[in-house]
Amino acid sequence: MNTVWMTVAAYLIGSISFAVVSSKLFGLADPRTYGSKNPGATNVLRSGNKGAAIATLIGDALKGWVAVWLAIRFQEKLNIGDATIALVAIAVFLGHLWPVFFRFVGGKGVATAAGVLLGLNPWLGVATLVTWLAVAFAFRYSSLAALVAAVFAPFYYGLLFGVEPQLAAVAAMSALLVFRHSKNISNLIAGKESRIGSKAKGK
Ligand code: G3P
Repeated sequence: MNTVWMTVAAYLIGSISFAVVSSKLFGLADPRTYGSKNPGATNVLRSGNKGAAIATLIGDALKGWVAVWLAIRFQEKLNIGDATIALVAIAVFLGHLWPVFFRFVGGKGVATAAGVLLGLNPWLGVATLVTWLAVAFAFRYSSLAALVAAVFAPFYYGLLFGVEPQLAAVAAMSALLVFRHSKNISNLIAGKESRIGSKAKGK
């Protein structure tokens, strides 16, 4: 029973789009109407408002972290196994990708995945974030950094903890994240991907 309500609660938390919420609070246009049209921190940054982009990043990461951290914190009390932790992790991520509050039109999951990984284990989160930062500094493409970090994350999990249900959640999250970046992948191949810091046309 706990597994069911925790998974549903995680999905609902994930469904809060901080890109849309913070854009509203900062008086900006809806991020689904400009740039890549993705409700995510990278696209909000294209509005030129760094504060809104940071708020998006923190909010989207925090929801992933909170859901997983709470599940782990109360694991014994609620008598739930690792499979439930894995379900909570994937549910909060799915909420971000297909949010019930926004007609199922969500983001690509990078910040939320970072929060989930940090919640599962700080070292796992830090290793993945360092990978993201290294690629982002070297190439200045947010999408490329996310793709490389997503490929590495399941390996980091496997190396740190071996085969557990949470590894399946991390691998599924990575696969979905890559899938959500298909447009970015074609843009990268075509040399059309916009670099970090470049503004959306007309913004
Ligand atoms: O955070 C998502 C990022 O990897 C790509 O975003 O807006 O450039 O498609 P965007």
